[in-house]
Amino acid sequence: MAIQLFVPTFDVEACLGEIRECLEKGWTGAGFKTIAFEEAWKTYTGLPHAHFLNSATSGLHLALDIYKEQRGWVDGDEVLTTPITFVSTNHAILHANLKPVFVDVDDFLCLDPDDVERKITPRTRAIVFVGLGGNTGPLGRIMEICQRRKLILVLDAAHMAGTRLAGTKRDGETPRGDVTVYSFQAVKNLPTADAGMICFTDEELDALARRKSWLGINKDTYARAADASAYKWQYEVESVGYKYHGNSIMAAIALAQLPHLDAHNARRRAIGDLYDKGFAGHPAIKTVPTAPGCVSSRHLYQIIVDDREKLIANLNARGVNTGVHYRNNLDYPMFQDQHAACPRAAELSQHVLSLPLHPQLSDDDVARVIEAVCECSAETLEPAL
Ligand SMILES: Cc1ncc(COP(=O)(O)O)c(C=O)c1O
Repeated sequence: MAIQLFVPTFDVEACLGEIRECLEKGWTGAGFKTIAFEEAWKTYTGLPHAHFLNSATSGLHLALDIYKEQRGWVDGDEVLTTPITFVSTNHAILHANLKPVFVDVDDFLCLDPDDVERKITPRTRAIVFVGLGGNTGPLGRIMEICQRRKLILVLDAAHMAGTRLAGTKRDGETPRGDVTVYSFQAVKNLPTADAGMICFTDEELDALARRKSWLGINKDTYARAADASAYKWQYEVESVGYKYHGNSIMAAIALAQLPHLDAHNARRRAIGDLYDKGFAGHPAIKTVPTAPGCVSSRHLYQIIVDDREKLIANLNARGVNTGVHYRNNLDYPMFQDQHAACPRAAELSQHVLSLPLHPQLSDDDVARVIEAVCECSAETLEPAL
């Protein structure tokens, strides 16, 4: 049987139990379970606010939209970002009528802080940092730059559910930006079908996110249903908004999955350690390191090899599925104006390969992948970059 790149692991009975409660109560929309999951997520992460959404894509847009409105940013103001990410990250910047300015990547495939410093201009307003694969990379330096240069830090934590910084608190501290956005999409570490969470540090912005994600309406349907007065139908619309809020069916799945997140991530890290050992000293395989002090959610395990396309073909033939995270976004026609802005990202994105990583992989599966990768790489034996 082929070894898949990603396989979500659902606690089927617990999910069905939580969903059944929604159906029996007759409440599948926002409210009820979304509130319960927001509370559970705040407890789990230690973050002060959490608002459940229909995706991280919505959350990233909402984050930039809200800061733009609150801080008086104007169309075309600049947001520093990475070309090694899923398209959502940079679409969100464009949706807010801001300009993505691409920064090159470092060994972690995260934003290179030195290039960040070089690309700050008087119009730079924010940095979007993607914790690629769950890695915090140079996040500490990026936070320091944001503080010093008075920039907003948007943490795209789509891959980071469960990532901690070791040694800061008993269970490790959750990395955070001024706003942190998680994804609970179908193959993420905490899978639902599609959902996300936006976590502002500022209480007022959290309240604004709640209104804006429900079309600017100042009273959600759940609060209205609980209102005993004759005016429960009445609400105000204070500004334009979006239909970005999450629903109780997705939150029900998330509530059932949350108790498994740490164990799943621990298994992911153990698989990462097996891969690390298997590839140690191999002259043709370089691995993407985890930042010191980062207890990564290990969403991805990435290697860098010379002839990636040949390796993919050979692994496919041996029943090992792989992925690429990500194609250099500057190769897309829509970013042609900056196509040469990030030479290291352009180079690395030709050679990076994600290996199977999910909690259902057995040690034998991992050994099979390592053997296949080493054998295929021995055929070309070009040193990795
Ligand atoms: C880095 C990154 N950011 C944002 C997203 C968007 O997440 P969602 O599918 O929840 O909108 C993804 C999803 O793959 C992602 O990988």
